[in-house]
Amino acid sequence: MDAIAIEAGADRPRLLDVPRPDPAPGEALVRTLRVGVDGTDHEVIAGHHGGMPAGEDYLVLGHEAVGVVEDPNGTDLDRGDVVVPTVRRPPPSGPNEYFERGEADMAPPEATVERGIDGAHGFMSEYFTSPADCLVPLPDELASWGFLVEPISISEKALELARASRSSFTWDPETALVLGNGSLGLVTVAMLVDEMDVYCLGRRDRPDPTIDIVESLGGTYVDSRETPVPEIPSVHEPADLVYEATGYAKHAFESIEALAPNGVAALLGVPDPWEFEVDGGRLHEELVMNNKAVVGSVNSGPRHFRAAIETLAALPSWFLDDFVTTVAPVDDFAAAFERGDATIKTAVAFDSP
Ligand code: NAP
Ligand code: BGC
Ligand code: ZN
Repeated sequence: MDAIAIEAGADRPRLLDVPRPDPAPGEALVRTLRVGVDGTDHEVIAGHHGGMPAGEDYLVLGHEAVGVVEDPNGTDLDRGDVVVPTVRRPPPSGPNEYFERGEADMAPPEATVERGIDGAHGFMSEYFTSPADCLVPLPDELASWGFLVEPISISEKALELARASRSSFTWDPETALVLGNGSLGLVTVAMLVDEMDVYCLGRRDRPDPTIDIVESLGGTYVDSRETPVPEIPSVHEPADLVYEATGYAKHAFESIEALAPNGVAALLGVPDPWEFEVDGGRLHEELVMNNKAVVGSVNSGPRHFRAAIETLAALPSWFLDDFVTTVAPVDDFAAAFERGDATIKTAVAFDSP
C-alpha cells in the first residue's frame, strides 16, 4: 500500500510501497481518509524533532488522521465507524504507569513513542492499525474535517492545564494573546474568540490570508516586528491568557511580561536549543509578585479529543473553508508539504468518506 515517509538522511518525504498491516488482538484496521500536516511534521522532516522507529531507516509520517474502520477485528467498534487515532503509544519497553493510568499525554518523552513523530510509524498510509481504545469515534458528518481533531485537542489540553493553574481563585479571563498565526495559533484564536478579546501575533505583511482570518474571527492582528511581545500591554492591553504557538524560544520568557496580574501563559512550541540573555531576576519577581503562571503542554488524550470533536462541530464553516488551504491527493502529496504565505492548514487525502 502507499505510505508517505521520511527516510533516514532525506530532506523531503517520499511515497513508499509498504505492506498493509494486520490488526493484532485488540486492534482495529482503519482505512485512512485524510491526514493533516503541521509545524511538527516539518520539524520531523528537518530532523529537528522525533525519530525513526528503533532499527528502521524510515518513518511513516502523519499524526493528525481520520479514517473509517475497515475491520473491527472483534473490538467494540463497527465496520464503517469514522474514527480519529490518538498519537501516543507505549515505548518498546512496554506500558508504564502513565499508560496504565490512561494519562499517556503526561508521560515524559522517554516513556512514550508518538506515531508519525517519534519512534513509531504514523498514519500517512492507505490503512493503519490501532488499539481500539486509541480510536475516538467521530460523527459521520465531520469525517472530512476529522484531521483537525488532533490539533484542536492539543489546545483543549493546554487550555485545561492553564485553567487548572488558575482554579484556586476567581479567574475570569477577558483578554487572550495567541503567539503565532500558524495552523495551531489560528485554530486557537477560533476557539477563544467567543469567550474573550483575542490578539494574535504574527510577522507578516498585509495582505495575508492568516491576518484576514484573525480579523474575520473578530480578533486583532499584532505584528511582532512593530510591537514586540513585552510592549503589547502598553500598546494594546495586558493578557489574562497567553497561548504560545510560535516555537520562538524568547516568547516563553516575553510571555511573562505580556501577562496581566494573575494571568497564565501556556507554552506549546517545540524550539531548537538557543542561548540568549534574559533578566531572570526581574521575570522571577514578576511571576511571584503578580501571581503569574507559566505552563508547558504537550500532546493530548481521549478526553481532549472528545472535547475537540464538539469544538470542531461548532466552528463556522467559512473558517474551515479558509483555514484548510490544501487537501492534496496522494499522487500530489508534496503539495501538502509546501509552505508559503498562501498556505495555512494542509492535508493529504487517501480516500473519500
Ligand atoms: P507553524 O505552522 O510553523 O506556525 C508557527 C507560526 O509562528 C508561523 O506562522 C510563524 O510565522 C509564526 N512565528 C514564528 N516566530 C514568530 C515571531 N518571532 N513573531 C511572530 N510570529 C512568529 O507551526 P504550528 O503547526 O502552528 O505549531 C506551532 C508550534 O507548536 C510548533 O513549534 C509546533 O512544533 C508546536 N506544536 C506543539 C504541540 C504540543 O503538543 N505542544 C502540538 C502541535 C504543535 P511565519 O509563518 O510568518 O514564519
Ligand atoms: C503533536 C503532539 C505531540 C507533539 C510533540 C505535536 O505536533 O500534535 O501529539 O505530542 O507534537 O511531539
Ligand atoms: Zn501536531
